[in-house]
Amino acid sequence: MADESFKEKVADLASGAKDRVAGLKRDQRESEAPQPIISRDRWALVTGASSGIGLCLAQRLAERGMNIVAVARNEDRLEDFAFHSPSNTEVLIADLSKASDRKAVATRCKAKDNPLDLLINNAGIWQFASFGEMTHKDMRQMMDVNMTAVVELSRAAVPGMVKRGHGGIVNISSIAGFLPLPYEAVYGGTKAFVTSFSQGLYEELKDTGVLVSAIAPGLVRTELHARTGGQEHVQGMPDRAWMSADAVAEIVLRAIDKRDPLRVPGGMNKTLSALLDVAPTPMVRWTAAKVNRQRIADD
Ligand SMILES: NC(=O)c1ccc[n+]([C@@H]2O[C@H](COP(=O)([O-])OP(=O)(O)OC[C@H]3O[C@@H](n4cnc5c(N)ncnc54)[C@H](OP(=O)(O)O)[C@@H]3O)[C@@H](O)[C@H]2O)c1
Repeated sequence: MADESFKEKVADLASGAKDRVAGLKRDQRESEAPQPIISRDRWALVTGASSGIGLCLAQRLAERGMNIVAVARNEDRLEDFAFHSPSNTEVLIADLSKASDRKAVATRCKAKDNPLDLLINNAGIWQFASFGEMTHKDMRQMMDVNMTAVVELSRAAVPGMVKRGHGGIVNISSIAGFLPLPYEAVYGGTKAFVTSFSQGLYEELKDTGVLVSAIAPGLVRTELHARTGGQEHVQGMPDRAWMSADAVAEIVLRAIDKRDPLRVPGGMNKTLSALLDVAPTPMVRWTAAKVNRQRIADD
């Protein structure tokens, strides 16, 4: 009898110890799990928040309780976003092709008051043209908005984020950066840069608590193509090739929640990018040239 009660006591002690170890392991897992980047009352800066993907991102982040620094040139549109937004908004008018304006946005990226938890480098310019037809100004603007701003704003945001051990930088790239694109060579080049830059920085910072991610959409229905008079070059693309800006924004937020280093939105774009990974470069180049020459000839 005495033996039985001794065995029960030992069993109780063993089971208590097991529960305590499980509890400790759970606490440790929870303390090691990174804090979510998208959190209520934290601050996100979105460039190109006046239209398309950037506006949808700013709206969705605000719906999830984040305060937004909305950056673009179009003041009326940014004020309209701020007026309708459910959270706090700072409107920051800036032309990211200008060094002085990039500096002003970089200053906000470094600010210690209301520090940024999320920087989304989304503003971008696209142009479909033969290289010889592009003006020096067109090329410079595209490179400065698509690349220089991404690097300078990231450089301004990173030290504070690393110090706080928390944050995210998301760069909106394009599948155009995965292949050589005749007649879009400058745009494709800028997006190849953005993807490579983001992946390098992801690895460099992954143990600091700071996420760096590149998102590479395919065709998205926004104002991008019409802005540079290139609408006719894309209107022949089949319906199934297009995504809405809102669908892309939803995928971007999911990628941030999952801390993905690289995300290609949409099944068709994923298949295309997988094919590009294995196809021989000369074949990709030849096919891209054929498709884009046809697009020029059709117009
Ligand atoms: N649409 C697509 O098919 C597609 C596909 C793949 C990747 N992307 C990328 O997605 C990103 C967003 O483009 P979107 O499609 O949403 O096009 P969009 O509707 O034309 O939006 C572009 C945004 O960038 C801003 N922007 C342009 N030039 C600027 C400048 N100099 N200074 C500051 N802001 C500037 C615009 O604002 P303001 O005019 O008010 O300055 C606007 O808010 C871009 O990086 C683009 O390359 C788009």
